[in-house]
Amino acid sequence: MPVNCAVILAAGEGKRMKSQKAKVLQEVLFKPMLDWVIDAVHAAGIEQIYVVTGHNREQVEAHVQGRVTTVYQAQQLGTGHAVMQAAPMLERHRGANCLVLYGDAPLFSAATLQAAGAHHEENHLAATVITAFTTDPTGYGRIVRDGNGLIQAIVEDKDASEEQKRISEINGGAYWFSVDALLPALAALRSNNAQEEYYLTDVPYSMNFKGQKVGAYVAPFAETAGANDRYQLFKLNEAARKAILTNHMNAGVSIPCRDGVMIGPDVTIGQDTQILPGTILRGRCVIGRGCVIGPGSVLTDSTVGDECVVNQSQLTQTTLEAGVTVGPFAHLRPGTHALERVHIGDFVEVKNSTVGAGTKLPHLSYIGDSDVGAGVNCGCGTVTANYDGRRKFRTKIGDGCFVGCHTCLVAPVSLGEGAYTAAGSVVTDDVPGGALAVARSRQQVKPGWADERRALTEEKDGQKGK
Ligand code: UD1
Ligand code: CA
Repeated sequence: MPVNCAVILAAGEGKRMKSQKAKVLQEVLFKPMLDWVIDAVHAAGIEQIYVVTGHNREQVEAHVQGRVTTVYQAQQLGTGHAVMQAAPMLERHRGANCLVLYGDAPLFSAATLQAAGAHHEENHLAATVITAFTTDPTGYGRIVRDGNGLIQAIVEDKDASEEQKRISEINGGAYWFSVDALLPALAALRSNNAQEEYYLTDVPYSMNFKGQKVGAYVAPFAETAGANDRYQLFKLNEAARKAILTNHMNAGVSIPCRDGVMIGPDVTIGQDTQILPGTILRGRCVIGRGCVIGPGSVLTDSTVGDECVVNQSQLTQTTLEAGVTVGPFAHLRPGTHALERVHIGDFVEVKNSTVGAGTKLPHLSYIGDSDVGAGVNCGCGTVTANYDGRRKFRTKIGDGCFVGCHTCLVAPVSLGEGAYTAAGSVVTDDVPGGALAVARSRQQVKPGWADERRALTEEKDGQKGK
């Protein structure tokens, strides 16, 4: 049974981005454009994906490694030439269909790709071009239809006559091809055009010339938008941002003000959660119901349970169970796992640590590489000294411990269940459960010392004055 496949073109230089980074790796809502395209193709049910690389080949290949098959285009001689490089792979898909997409147009939905594929199959077409109508077609290939409503040709902007330039239906840059019809058409491509390139857009013309049917599937123009420069990238970000925020609102998320709110495409949010201004949710975040996130919070690849609060804080690869409150001004780094009802307050940093249910880390603390039990109270300024300059060590704080203010726990070290430490202690040895550790020098009080010193200095000052 022949299997459908997809070819994504990602070899172009993208000069107008003025960047060290490959154009297709430029991000929309913190996700590289190429990943949007790959994910849409997967979501449309296509598993075999070929990505054509060229400029910045190493970067692009490293980025997609293990997820797709790459094909190298040594010289960028045009979009048709790029697809030609995948011809040996396409041989394996004879009898099936191939979806061709450009890596710099990230907003196609899986639904549109699938619907266009269904249109292609139902009408037994040699090719189906996803097109769109726009009031400003400048820069795009124009769609020339024949008397039967089929596509006769695609004319590139640079090759178009004045009359053709007025056509408002454009080539969206996504195509379904019958592989059996595509392979000979690619082999016959020539570069006799304004840019001296092998245009993929010449394939429909040659098919139509041979009497093969090329159809159009009209999609919303917003889905076809691409980015060749930073301003267009900004416009893609804005369009994607507004669409995503609207989808969340329609699903019961409260966003009273959109200012500075950016939510990536792979974030899920439960009902009745409120997202406040200046909040960025990036990567794969999962946010529960009834939370308040923001203002001014940045969450990356993190999971937040129901009824949590994250105020003016940053979370990366962190998991919060239900009812956790964070902030203001906390920094939760990779590997933080806070269990139910934990409170992490202002100027607290946690890294690679588990914090047990109901535990409080209210102020000015660093907890790194630690296992903190349930019902612990860490006083202001509790610090774990987890690093000796060469290696990292763990700290264990048992259930129900009370860590006095400004305790320094020098790892590896453990506090047994219910232990106390005296304020200002530097704890270097394990403390058994139920014990108190006092690890500081004893206070001395010198009666009258201050008065005597003051009298002495006043006497000296008096002598200088004379
Ligand atoms: C292309 C279409 C145009 C369409 C528009 C939609 C052609 C000839 N023109 O124009 O009809 O309206 O997209 O956005 O196809 N690439 C390669 N190898 C190459 C050349 C390009 O991999 O040799 C890749 C680029 O990295 C890019 C994509 O193909 O991702 C499209 O190329 P680009 O030069 O941006 O084409 P457009 O001028 O936008
Ligand atoms: Ca382009």
